[in-house]
Amino acid sequence: MRIESSRYTERFGAIQLHDVQKVLELDSGRAKEGTPQEALAVLKIDEDTIKDHEERMAIVIPTKNEKLKLFEGVIAGVPHECLKIVVSNSERRKFDRFRMERDALAQYCRFTQRRALIVHQKDPRLGEALRAAGYPELLDDQGLVRDGKAEGMIVGMLLAKMIGKDYVGFIDADNYFPGSVWEYVRCYAAGFSLAETPYAMVRVLWRYKPKMSVHGLYFKKWGRVSQVTNRVMNTLLSHKMGFDTEIIKTGNAGEHAMTLKLAEILPYASGFAIEPQELLSLFEGYGGVLPAADPEVAQRGIEIFQIESRNPHLHEEKGVEHIHEMLLAGLGALYHSPLCEAETRELILEELQDQGALPAGEEPPKPQLYPPFAKADIKAFRRALEPHLDEHMIWPNK
Ligand code: GDD
Ligand code: MG
Repeated sequence: MRIESSRYTERFGAIQLHDVQKVLELDSGRAKEGTPQEALAVLKIDEDTIKDHEERMAIVIPTKNEKLKLFEGVIAGVPHECLKIVVSNSERRKFDRFRMERDALAQYCRFTQRRALIVHQKDPRLGEALRAAGYPELLDDQGLVRDGKAEGMIVGMLLAKMIGKDYVGFIDADNYFPGSVWEYVRCYAAGFSLAETPYAMVRVLWRYKPKMSVHGLYFKKWGRVSQVTNRVMNTLLSHKMGFDTEIIKTGNAGEHAMTLKLAEILPYASGFAIEPQELLSLFEGYGGVLPAADPEVAQRGIEIFQIESRNPHLHEEKGVEHIHEMLLAGLGALYHSPLCEAETRELILEELQDQGALPAGEEPPKPQLYPPFAKADIKAFRRALEPHLDEHMIWPNK
């Protein structure tokens, strides 16, 4: 794979925020040396390096009632070396959609000699294991994991840690192009290969997100939600730094990955606020404005890569209400951040009212925050799940 070198890096406390790096070539051939001139502007990441990182990566696929055909395409797009972890919150009563997902995954793994893990978010045994691990914050009053994409992602990250992976990446289950999925994971691997700290994050920016218009297919660059979230996040950072910045281009990136070392020290927001909150948690904890959340981490530094994919992104359209829900969740996280001053708050209210997502005079909701899962006793989690693992783990030839 060839990608652009990082041409500009914004520094905020202990955080290095790299500007967008475009994918130039999906496959850059064998591991031969690049020319010296190339090294300045372009980085070649050879196949072995990509594979070395993929081997150490779990890919978490959160899913809730997605079309089975899309789910099948997504699992087919994840590179062979990665361990797939599916966390499903799909219907089990009328139709057992979870069972269909499980069967499809098992069949796929059998034919491709792959390994995977699949759990249902509402499995009471998962709830018990979280309680045993001392991480009950994720549970509702019936002892089951709460609804939400973020909640599914946190379960996935705990499973990745339990298995001993070094990196965890996320891929939505409603993606139409297996080829995009494949590229996103390669972007994660490329980003990690460039990181100089164990605390790194890679966020994917889509080249285009095609939309149907009256004139046919239109290749849009920015989504409605991401445009607003990025603007507000940049305003917040600009105020703190005293210089205008436009560095944030991936405030909402659902397709992103982290080193486990970084993933386990971040507080997370519920539902769709999770992606903007990850950045906020970093700015709050390591931006140098508030006291450092962990001085050792601040010492090593944190790197955030934003990589622009070649493939266009096409996923399920879920309607205006869904867009409003996502806007409210993300901007709610920003609004209630201790870093957010009056001017940015005002901008948030204006944006939400302009989009028709919030009536005048109201404030966006404060997202529920979950503590970093570093505190969870992973051995106790494993012990509690162990008797049931056979049911959830799909290893070939079994
Ligand atoms: N496990 C689980 N539990 N998965 C869920 C849940 C849940 O309660 N709710 C939704 N999901 C799954 C969906 O099935 C899908 O695979 C993925 O989470 C993303 O949900 P979508 O409903 O498709 O969200 P979106 O496409 O509008 O937004 C995505 O992209 C945004 C911009 O990049 C999400 O990834 C957002 O989080 C992201 O900000
Ligand atoms: Mg989607």
